[in-house]
Amino acid sequence: MNPFKYGNIVSGKFFYNRKVELERVKATLSGGNNLVLYAPRRYGKSSLVNKALIELGKEGFITVYIDFMAIYSSEIFIRNYSNAVVSKKKSSIEKITKYISKIIRGIVPTVSFNQSGVPEFSFSWIEGSNKEETLEDVINLPEKLSSSKEKWIIAFDEFQEITKLNGESFEKILRSLIQHHKNVTYLFLGSRTHLLKDMFSNRNRAFYNSAMLMNLDKINIDDSVNYLIRKFSNEKIKISKEVAAYLVNKVNAIPYFIQFVAAEIWQDVITKNKVVEKRLVDKAIKSIIELKSDYYWELTSKQTNYRKKVLHALSCSNNGIYAKETIKKFNLGANSTTQKAIATFIDDGIIEKYNNELLFSDPIYKMFLEENL
Ligand SMILES: Nc1ncnc2c1ncn2[C@@H]1O[C@H](COP(=O)(O)OP(=O)(O)OP(=O)(O)O)[C@@H](O)[C@H]1O
Ligand SMILES: [Mg+2]
Repeated sequence: MNPFKYGNIVSGKFFYNRKVELERVKATLSGGNNLVLYAPRRYGKSSLVNKALIELGKEGFITVYIDFMAIYSSEIFIRNYSNAVVSKKKSSIEKITKYISKIIRGIVPTVSFNQSGVPEFSFSWIEGSNKEETLEDVINLPEKLSSSKEKWIIAFDEFQEITKLNGESFEKILRSLIQHHKNVTYLFLGSRTHLLKDMFSNRNRAFYNSAMLMNLDKINIDDSVNYLIRKFSNEKIKISKEVAAYLVNKVNAIPYFIQFVAAEIWQDVITKNKVVEKRLVDKAIKSIIELKSDYYWELTSKQTNYRKKVLHALSCSNNGIYAKETIKKFNLGANSTTQKAIATFIDDGIIEKYNNELLFSDPIYKMFLEENL
């Protein structure tokens, strides 16, 4: 089996590093302070939080994880959230259902059985009921179920998506209620860093100053290099420090892409010579570009001609998009027009503004553009 894994959350033997970050997340949450964890896409936020929640669970906290990416209405939130919360309570489902019928307005809770015959919590709406009341009661549910001896920790992943629910009203309701929760601590995480940061550091927003902000950086390059060497060597595959560093730097040290390229290399060499050379790194990247080229072409063809020009310039100008030489070489217009194009890329998640640098969220897409535009 491929020892490298890419996609969503990784855990167990697929997870490496992040010791310091893990301790910080755990210490903040177990100390009862709310935390915002932000980083660009695919840096490993969800995996880190997953690990933190597992460990906090072992320390006696009740933990809940909710992904706002999958939530497109407040009704879905009510359903998913109440289910996630109820499933964490150890008392019998019948007992808790009875309790919930008393404290949540607007719904009739029932016990149903899933395909394996395991009892599950479900509910039906009371017709004509006030859904905002139900929402409030569901948000307060963890606090009601918790106690000073049984504290809860709740993680909201891709939290910036909340603004797509009912504009800012959902955000306001959530904030106004959870600020009174004494035995529940909240962790907010997300990949749209500018949106998430704005929610917590803009004075006019409901969550202003309500949590500590923590930025998750990439994994240290040396640690990733050592990890690659170790993992390949477990498979009796040799990779030198230099080649491993070449791989890591090629993909801008973004954890997801390190794993993606390494997995591709493993597939290529496992039955062959078992030595990874630089050219095999390039070969793996090339085959990933091919694999994703339909998607990349679609993404590119959606852009206006001017935006294509800016993308092209971003992908291969070394001295910055606003440098005189770049403007001349790519025949760019006024800086304000270029800025507008970049703002669209940032909104669409193609480009990340990180430490004042403009970076491609997907370094392989950058290589695709370099080759094809
Ligand atoms: N600590 C880690 N150890 C090994 N691989 C990791 C680690 N962190 C991230 N990865 C790699 O990155 C991929 C994405 O991780 P994860 O989903 O946790 O990131 P994310 O920041 O939540 O991403 P997204 O922005 O897409 O939600 C994983 O599937 C894995 O390949
Ligand atoms: Mg994630």
